[in-house]
Amino acid sequence: MKNVVIYSSKTGNTKKVAEAIAQSLDYELINIDDVRDFDDYEKIIFGFWVDKGFMDTKTKKKAENIKNKTLGIFFTSGVEPNSEHAKECLEKSKEYFTILGNNVTHLFCCQGAIDPEVIEIMKNMAIKMGDKAVHKITDERRARWKKAETHPDKEDLKNAILAFSNF
Ligand SMILES: Cc1cc2nc3c(=O)[nH]c(=O)nc-3n(C[C@H](O)[C@H](O)[C@H](O)COP(=O)(O)O)c2cc1C
Repeated sequence: MKNVVIYSSKTGNTKKVAEAIAQSLDYELINIDDVRDFDDYEKIIFGFWVDKGFMDTKTKKKAENIKNKTLGIFFTSGVEPNSEHAKECLEKSKEYFTILGNNVTHLFCCQGAIDPEVIEIMKNMAIKMGDKAVHKITDERRARWKKAETHPDKEDLKNAILAFSNF
């Protein structure tokens, strides 16, 4: 049976990381939308983009069919990998796929540029909601958005390859 890197990517960040990992391990690379049966694969590395703290609903619906595999997981998100938000998402990912019977052996995450349209929506929402806004537009948030713009970068791809080198 084949080994594979499967990814979900809205704007291309996660796909970039998936490509780098697949190439380094000489694994097949496939978009989750194109997977027919996860049991066609032996070992799976699965990468997703973070939507509201975890997988988006469509990806989750498909990914819940990944069962009883040796599994590596990675994601790209707007936040830095050492942030609480990213750590929570790593833990949630491990728990989610372990409950499905998988042996989660490897985890990785890195930052990914945020769709400028989403930033605009968040800014407008913050203006509209004022003090009640969930995501206030602080200097810290602006700096994080700015920092995310250049990711995933070469270093991220190198780290991703390293993280799965013994998968
Ligand atoms: C609708 C939407 C929701 C998002 N929600 C989060 C989030 O909750 N936490 C986070 O860190 N990043 C969030 N992001 C940022 C993305 O996870 C990040 O930009 C990611 O790299 C996108 O990957 P992709 O290019 O593969 O689609 C969100 C982005 C979008 C478009």
